[in-house]
Amino acid sequence: MKAIILNRTLPEGIETADIRLEALAPDEVKIQIKSAALNHRDEWCRQGKYANLRDGIILGSDAAGIVVEAGQEVDASWLGKEVIINPASDWGENEYVQSKTFKIIGMPDHGTLGEYIQVKSDRIHLKPDHLNWDEAAALPLGAVTAYRALFRQGEIQSTDNVLVTGFGGGVAQFGVQFALSLGAQVYISSSSEEKMQKALNLGCSGAFDYREENWAEKALADTGGFDLILDSAMGDTLNNLIKVTKPGGRIVFYGATRGNASGFESRRIFWNQIKLIGSTMGNDEDFDGMLSFVSKKKIVPIIDQIFNLDDSVKAFEKMKEGKQMGKIVIRVTQ
Ligand SMILES: NC(=O)c1ccc[n+]([C@@H]2O[C@H](COP(=O)([O-])OP(=O)(O)OC[C@H]3O[C@@H](n4cnc5c(N)ncnc54)[C@H](OP(=O)(O)O)[C@@H]3O)[C@@H](O)[C@H]2O)c1
Repeated sequence: MKAIILNRTLPEGIETADIRLEALAPDEVKIQIKSAALNHRDEWCRQGKYANLRDGIILGSDAAGIVVEAGQEVDASWLGKEVIINPASDWGENEYVQSKTFKIIGMPDHGTLGEYIQVKSDRIHLKPDHLNWDEAAALPLGAVTAYRALFRQGEIQSTDNVLVTGFGGGVAQFGVQFALSLGAQVYISSSSEEKMQKALNLGCSGAFDYREENWAEKALADTGGFDLILDSAMGDTLNNLIKVTKPGGRIVFYGATRGNASGFESRRIFWNQIKLIGSTMGNDEDFDGMLSFVSKKKIVPIIDQIFNLDDSVKAFEKMKEGKQMGKIVIRVTQ
């Protein structure tokens, strides 16, 4: 079958290859992938900036498709069902943190950028009815990350003033959609006028340009501060985030695109009783919660552009540029 694999010996870092799948295990299903979607993780893999990389692995963590084969131990009623895949497995017993064996499809195991994938049957869920293939494919990794960060780690309340930084980010957009659907007052930051306008059109109450020197002072004056902040940039923006957090508020971060923070304002953290909370993807309960919230609130992922599998290099380049406004989707067998 045709698939996009990691090959760091090539300047593009990826290539289209003909891959033979192994025999289906008794507890696995084989899924024909209709659409897949990119996450920044795929681009980190292509750039060689991810742990334990292996050339020859099919990249991609997000997808939606049809079950075409079921192993001996799998309920045969799954055959023909339209599904999405939970990309994470082996979270473990502790709801607060993943186990050491926690892993994500697309590295180290084969991922979704191929015509077929074989996964354990407990990783599949019925595709939400209100989503088409492209929209459903855009959901899994980003949406579960936003869901755990906001609901479990951030304990979001409908009365909260919420700031989601870097609205251009895939996870950030789910964060905004989820917080708005809950009825919270939502603000965003972005480096793009167009993205800020898009957020306001979605129902956000305000937007700030994080490149402006005094954006934090402006945000504080306009909003009175935030109960909850969702961030994946970190770096030196952290001190501004601490500044705009209300006393007793929470900052949840799930990435560090801008690296580590220098000059950390520790006194403001303890005096204002601010909680600084890390979050990574989600366990199976978070995934179920995310899916039922998305179905109940009829949330539709924002899609930036749809590429064909043969144009995957272009799709990865777009992710690298970071100019996208929404998920980058790759149609595989539609
Ligand atoms: N822990 C996990 O489970 C998990 C899951 C998913 C992602 N992540 C990590 O989270 C990060 C974001 O990933 P993604 O796929 O959602 O995003 P993405 O699509 O790669 O977008 C990143 C966005 O970050 C924003 N940004 C850049 N510098 C910023 C700054 N100084 N302040 C605020 N925002 C800034 C930009 O927003 P504008 O374009 O609006 O300026 C940019 O569009 C990556 O580092 C990724 O590896 C972690």
